[in-house]
Amino acid sequence: MSETIHVAAGTEWWRNAVVYQVYPRSFADANGDGTGDVEGIRSRIPYLTQLGVNAIWMNPWYPSPLLDGGYDVADYRSIAPMFGSLDDAKRLIADAHDAGIRVIVDLVPNHTSWDHKWFVEAVAATPGSAARDRYIFRDGKGENGELPPTNWSSVFGGPAWSRCEDGQWYLHLFDISQPDLNWTNPEVRAEFCDIFRFWVDLGADGFRVDVSHGLIKDPDFPDVDLASEILTVGHIENHPHWDRDEVHEINREWRAVLDAKEVELGRELMMVAEAWVKPESVPLYLRPDEYHQSFNFDFLGCPWDITQMRSSINRALVDAASVGSSATWVLSNHDVVRHATRYGLPEGTDYQEWLMHGSAELCDHTLGVKRARAITMMLLALPGSTYIYQGEELGLHEVHDLPHEVLDDPVWRRSEHTRKGRDGCRVPIPWTTTGASFGFGSDGSWLPQPSDWGAQSVEAQDGVAGSVLELYRSALALRAASWVDSGDLNWLELDPHAIAFERNGYVCITNFGDSDIQLPDGDLLLASDDSASIAMIAANTTVWIKRP
Ligand code: NOJ
Repeated sequence: MSETIHVAAGTEWWRNAVVYQVYPRSFADANGDGTGDVEGIRSRIPYLTQLGVNAIWMNPWYPSPLLDGGYDVADYRSIAPMFGSLDDAKRLIADAHDAGIRVIVDLVPNHTSWDHKWFVEAVAATPGSAARDRYIFRDGKGENGELPPTNWSSVFGGPAWSRCEDGQWYLHLFDISQPDLNWTNPEVRAEFCDIFRFWVDLGADGFRVDVSHGLIKDPDFPDVDLASEILTVGHIENHPHWDRDEVHEINREWRAVLDAKEVELGRELMMVAEAWVKPESVPLYLRPDEYHQSFNFDFLGCPWDITQMRSSINRALVDAASVGSSATWVLSNHDVVRHATRYGLPEGTDYQEWLMHGSAELCDHTLGVKRARAITMMLLALPGSTYIYQGEELGLHEVHDLPHEVLDDPVWRRSEHTRKGRDGCRVPIPWTTTGASFGFGSDGSWLPQPSDWGAQSVEAQDGVAGSVLELYRSALALRAASWVDSGDLNWLELDPHAIAFERNGYVCITNFGDSDIQLPDGDLLLASDDSASIAMIAANTTVWIKRP
């Protein structure tokens, strides 16, 4: 590991942004129907400003039957009536811009909803028609085509093919309601370029691109070795549908669209890839004519382990710089168990197994939050941008005991009720200590909130020294004033149990050990935990220091 890590030059806003991920269904419900909405989000812009974020990423807000939380898009140029209207979206974007907050829209190009007009047309059309060619329809195997064309499985469980009435099969790498588009079809390619332009013209500053590593399928449609696929999705060489070389052509096409729009409008635009690929592949997505950024899932997957974390950080920084990009840091999102919970569970816990059968007591909540605070401060000090998932700034935990009857995730359905899926991290935000849905809306919430949720609410933490919310606010403000312009990073060897680095006189130290570490000389700017005494850094604690 080299001692100094260089940071690629560049002043674009996304290089160091703190991006706040909004799950519209669960953020704030202005019209009191139990589901969050665009007006609710707009009403909370002052909260986001006070928090100090630079951008918001909106999870899908399009018309959708919501069979996969909106990742089943029925119309890419509109807003789901339950969330509001295009005018509401325009107002939100305008108000966010006025507050200095950029807006990133979620684009879902791998599949549409089965309610999308193209799919409705395709199903009604005949095999071999132009309408079917926008998707991936194939004849089945077996004497009468009764077997699926390949043995591929859906990410959510079960086969990746479903059969139409006329006997042909269509591919859906995710839910049965999410047919995969055919990215070798020029009409599909042109349509998405146009969708990018549509949202940029509406004011969007960037795009989070869903399943960006899955668009291209091997034209020979070979079977896969299912046993190894389950363990290593995205990590197999020459996989028939993950991370194929041809996706880079598509990346370049989109980048050209955004670059042209940037020139036309004089606004910096960006796109960030959701690419669950092996770490070696990530920089390929980040070449100067492809994505601006890619989510760093390698770090998200690290357990509380100093060696793994340090080498993951090192790799992400070196790789990003090698292609002129900037690293991204993510601990939670709408697809994973919240990190305050992950860090409170014993190492090696199978999260889905725990959600199904584990006891609440297995999770040490206090430890989980303490570690979450520490790791957040570490990430905020690193070069690159940080993505915050709504509610993590309150220290929210995974809601692990949602009753089966409210579970909504296709993972629950498609696994035949053997995996609960992701609803536990999507429970609506508590804004107030008491009241209907703890201030989320004027009535209930689409997923039930735990009865003690009020103690974690914004109201309960606002202005309270030592609360998670106040730590985030202080850390974001300090980060903007110190780390953001601090350039290259030098690793420091202060203690075998610490990850420590310095950037331009600012020092960040995280204690992964069990005992206290001596605090080096300098001004203590911030500690992740009050229990950090002036002289020592306690276990599971991060400190920021300014060298004398
Ligand atoms: C990744 C999204 O983050 C996830 O929520 C969704 O289920 C799949 N892609 C399919 O679109």
